Amino acid sequence: MNIQWYPGHMTKARRSMQEDIRLIDLIVELVDARAPLASRNPDIDQLGKGKARLILLNKSDLAQEQWNIAWTEWFRKKGFYVIEVDSRSGAGLKKINAVVQEACREKLERDRRRGIMNRPVRAMVAGIPNVGKSTFINSFAGKACTKTGNRPGVTKGKQWIRLNKSLELLDTPGILWPKFEDPRVGILLALLGTINDEILDRDELALELLKLLQNRYPRVLEKRYEITDAGMEPAKILENIAAVRGCLMKGGSLDLPKAARLLLDDFRSGKLGRITLEIPDEK
Ligand code: G4P
Repeated sequence: MNIQWYPGHMTKARRSMQEDIRLIDLIVELVDARAPLASRNPDIDQLGKGKARLILLNKSDLAQEQWNIAWTEWFRKKGFYVIEVDSRSGAGLKKINAVVQEACREKLERDRRRGIMNRPVRAMVAGIPNVGKSTFINSFAGKACTKTGNRPGVTKGKQWIRLNKSLELLDTPGILWPKFEDPRVGILLALLGTINDEILDRDELALELLKLLQNRYPRVLEKRYEITDAGMEPAKILENIAAVRGCLMKGGSLDLPKAARLLLDDFRSGKLGRITLEIPDEK
């Protein structure tokens, strides 16, 4: 499958992020726990050089717990602070404050030595589209916070969300561009719903998902769609799904595009259960 996507505002987003990064101490980078590498743009490592880094494995409720743990370990070994979160329910968010202080400890100590006391850590949220940045900011900031705007000399035009006395968050997240020169990454991003369905071949994408499920989650297919043999050709499985779910065209023949859409929706909404598409060190 060949996915091409060249959004025009990419350069603008990058420039505005570069500017914002100068104002902050820490980058809170959201990745999708179901495909944590595919859903990040490694450019952030260059952009965020010298800043403290926290990775949030967001949508961890949709990914398999065993792999959430493995990914947490994987990123830790690379030197990141990592927390599993579910921004929709708020799970995991309580841990963030303490980890942020720990991640910025050196910086805070340096401040203290220079006589700067109690300056809050400033952070920005970053991630590719649809990874959950707005949901996270809303849940994390909640209602209790106050917005502080336009501080003279420091952050003209910027809005900061004061979370508590030791943490402030830039209220506009940094948008990172997904990188999908690698077709495997393109497929994973399409499955997650990062790339708009309309610009790709949904039927082909459904077949890719079926292949992935066959390999790692054969029971899911059997349970949800009454497939008797998860080893059959993916195209056959899709036909089975169409038949079991009554996806039929007017004349009674199978409506495969409808079955494909149903399968993709079931996956994206978690109806197939907790599924991790990408596992560490699998290439
Ligand atoms: P963005 O700002 O990074 O573009 O992402 P946004 O917050 O808009 O979230 C994209 C979708 O992901 C939303 O669903 C949101 O509810 C969902 N989401 C965000 N975080 C989590 C999470 O931790 N777990 C789960 N299960 N879902 C999450 P939507 O269907 O587009 O909108 P809505 O129907 O929820 O309003």
